[in-house]
Amino acid sequence: MEDLKRLKDEFDLEAGKIDTLRSLNDLRVKYLGKKGIITELLKGLSKIPREQRPDRGRQLNEIKKYIEKEIKRLHEKVSAEETKKKIQSEAIDITLPGRFIPPGKVHPVNRVLSEIVDIFVSMGFAVEEGPEVEHDYYNFEALNIPKDHPAREMQDTFYVKAPNKPSSSSHIDSDIVLRTHTSPVQIRGMKKRKPPLKFIAPGKVYRCDADVSHTPMFHQVEGLMVGEDITFSDLKGVLEVFIHRMFGPSTPVRFRPSYFPFTEPSAEVDIGCILCGGEGCRVCKGTGWLEVLGAGMVHPKVFEAVGYDTERYTGFAFGMGVERLTMLKYRIDDIRLFYENDVRFLSQF
Ligand code: PHE
Repeated sequence: MEDLKRLKDEFDLEAGKIDTLRSLNDLRVKYLGKKGIITELLKGLSKIPREQRPDRGRQLNEIKKYIEKEIKRLHEKVSAEETKKKIQSEAIDITLPGRFIPPGKVHPVNRVLSEIVDIFVSMGFAVEEGPEVEHDYYNFEALNIPKDHPAREMQDTFYVKAPNKPSSSSHIDSDIVLRTHTSPVQIRGMKKRKPPLKFIAPGKVYRCDADVSHTPMFHQVEGLMVGEDITFSDLKGVLEVFIHRMFGPSTPVRFRPSYFPFTEPSAEVDIGCILCGGEGCRVCKGTGWLEVLGAGMVHPKVFEAVGYDTERYTGFAFGMGVERLTMLKYRIDDIRLFYENDVRFLSQF
């Protein structure tokens, strides 16, 4: 019976050192497993003298129960400790202040572009689109811009080299251009529909030009209205409504005679200088007026190009630069600010 007492002491010693579920399992296997110490001792009962068996058996069972109980107790204790350690190691410090993510904004040019579109849509204009890489025919020819017109000169137009032309031919021979205005959409729109029609055509245009008021790419909004009794008064009315919604109802508007190959008569539209109120300043160059639009009555040659009856139909067209309107509206003095994408500039809108 001495050996069993030593066995229990030995178990207690080992159990005292247990601090993980893994080592606890090893301990269980060592004593209670299939080939464990207790299991082997129970098997050995048959080899001891018959009269000693009941006492020894009882004592062995007591130790076995004790060990089982101890292992169960240790299991609860160690698993509670392990859970606690795991929770501590995975803890998130929710007291760390959050990082500020600045919200995005609509670019000022896009903002004014949508405003322009909204105003014309509210007056019943549809919205048309056309390609930015355009045929000479749509960009110039059909708009009554003859081959020797100064607008075709290289400093204005980006020519796209035709893929199957010999490399010796100069690029001015190319009949594909980056559109220099949105007016080619007039031609495309008229070919697609029949009068009466009215639509606007917003989009990007390209000119080989760069300074404080010119970038190689900028935006225009074209407008076209064609029908049986469309007059210059309709043009004046539509544009006056537009300008008063865009710059305020008391903005002075004037139509000044001008020239465009695709309109006759043609006009440029000025508004009273929004910086000096008409007194004369640096921005309006002392005149008190700012040019905001080109416009006119559609030239009969343009109607001929799209096969419209020039006796039956009349119409007006207009075109405006979106960057220029944005600069006037927000008093920005350098167009390049729009394309530098400096957040300090953009976040002001
Ligand atoms: N296309 C002209 C330009 O880019 C503007 C315009 C459009 C003028 C329609 C008259 C009529 O300058």
